[in-house]
Amino acid sequence: MFNIEDFDIKLDTEFIGRNFIYCEEIDSTNSTLLNDNYYKKNGTIILSEFQTNGKGRKRREWLSNKEQNLTFSILLIDDLKPRQVNILNLGASLAVAQSIENLFQLKTNLKWPNDVLIDGKKVSGILIESSSKGDKLEKVALGIGINVNQPNFTGRFNIPPTSIKKEFKKEVSRERVLSEVLNNFEVIYELALKDPKKILNDWKLRSRFLGESIKIEEGESTLYGKFEDIDDDGFMMLRTEKGIEKIHFGDVSLV
Ligand code: BTN
Repeated sequence: MFNIEDFDIKLDTEFIGRNFIYCEEIDSTNSTLLNDNYYKKNGTIILSEFQTNGKGRKRREWLSNKEQNLTFSILLIDDLKPRQVNILNLGASLAVAQSIENLFQLKTNLKWPNDVLIDGKKVSGILIESSSKGDKLEKVALGIGINVNQPNFTGRFNIPPTSIKKEFKKEVSRERVLSEVLNNFEVIYELALKDPKKILNDWKLRSRFLGESIKIEEGESTLYGKFEDIDDDGFMMLRTEKGIEKIHFGDVSLV
């Protein structure tokens, strides 16, 4: 069981995670934060030991064993601009990568837009969702799934999965991982408002396919090109036969 005291003692944030909600089981931490009007405090975290409808990007499922991993969402209500949300989407994966490197000295890579990989295998995924009022963003739910102590994975995956335990060869403290991620995320959050370029540069240093020939699959369409750069909004700049194309979504893989 998750030990809230062990988590709290290492939490070093001003507001991220200071309002902490723990659940045994919920449909999805993202859906709960977005749909339930009870949650109104910026930086609120909901962590659930199990999700009955854990959601991944592109309407995929996010499956995670009960009490072995971390599945949680961060509520952001700060009049964020869509561009800042985009940067935070990349920034959240950077916070997870930095945390795994700091705590376990494991080398991580980032796969655009926000998958965290260890040795080419996916250890964490991020799903950012929002609700709006008029033309303003009302609530942003930044959902993070981290495979922490899950020993094995069954099913079909588009990227092979792994966990920190599998790579570190030891059971690790979920409480310590969560506090580290939130500590790093709060720094990233401040940067997203003041110095987003720093996030983009740090993200690029860990990027897995930057500079390489890749393909992007989105629904029925596949685009081929060279992953040239990410722009100031965090979108991918893909050099194709037609010139530079700006990519907003898609699954990236090497050709
Ligand atoms: C992906 O890689 O496809 C994104 C996975 C995001 C999973 C997390 S787990 C907590 C939060 N609640 C959800 O339903 N999804 C996100």
